[in-house]
Amino acid sequence: MLTGPPTDADRSELLDLWVSVNAAGGAVGFEASAPQADVARVLDEHLGADALVRLVHPTMDTFYDPSSYGALIGFGFLHRPTASVARHRVSLLRVMTNPALRGRWFGRLLVAALHGQARRSSAEIAEIDYRGGTGLGEFYERCGYAESGRVVDGLKFSFGYRDDVSMTCRLTPPVQQGR
Ligand SMILES: CC(C)(COP(=O)(O)OP(=O)(O)OC[C@H]1O[C@@H](n2cnc3c(N)ncnc32)[C@H](O)[C@@H]1OP(=O)(O)O)[C@@H](O)C(=O)NCCC(=O)NCCS
Repeated sequence: MLTGPPTDADRSELLDLWVSVNAAGGAVGFEASAPQADVARVLDEHLGADALVRLVHPTMDTFYDPSSYGALIGFGFLHRPTASVARHRVSLLRVMTNPALRGRWFGRLLVAALHGQARRSSAEIAEIDYRGGTGLGEFYERCGYAESGRVVDGLKFSFGYRDDVSMTCRLTPPVQQGR
């Protein structure tokens, strides 16, 4: 897992992965044929505003030299609200894994890595929004999330409307409130 800012080469790899995820039908903000330049603009917005968490393959040297790592497996962003009363919450954005590596638990590992990083930055509640009709709700339920809201037809694509579904997961035990 890597949490630092990407090099230029890393950024190209992030962009290539995001474009390939779109092409494979992924629900990460774009339709399958989204132009690379549009994806690059949104990627740069996230890199400027949010915390990046990457899963990468280790190399033979990674154990001794953490700066040595292999190909990108997946990534996601953590976004913190600015309002002081909501600073204990974090949103997971653009969670995606390499389409060629699906079903090997890398998705669950990536969500766990995002949660770990969120906890280290004192977040207590994680949130994620997903595109209805994709089956992603089951995936996130397995990661500890429960549905917390749904805007029916809240997303509009060239192929029609989809629900905008919100899910929430507690990262820390709830604080007992005195009454
Ligand atoms: C969602 C995603 C990150 C999961 O990654 P992954 O590497 O396949 O995850 P895992 O191997 O840990 O888990 C796969 C399990 O989740 C299920 N799953 C993953 N995506 C699913 C989906 N869209 N619909 C239904 N089930 C899904 C798989 O069926 C599999 O189930 P199994 O363990 O019973 O075989 C990956 O599918 C992805 O990048 N999707 C495209 C991008 C996307 O839509 N991201 C969601 C943004 S909210």
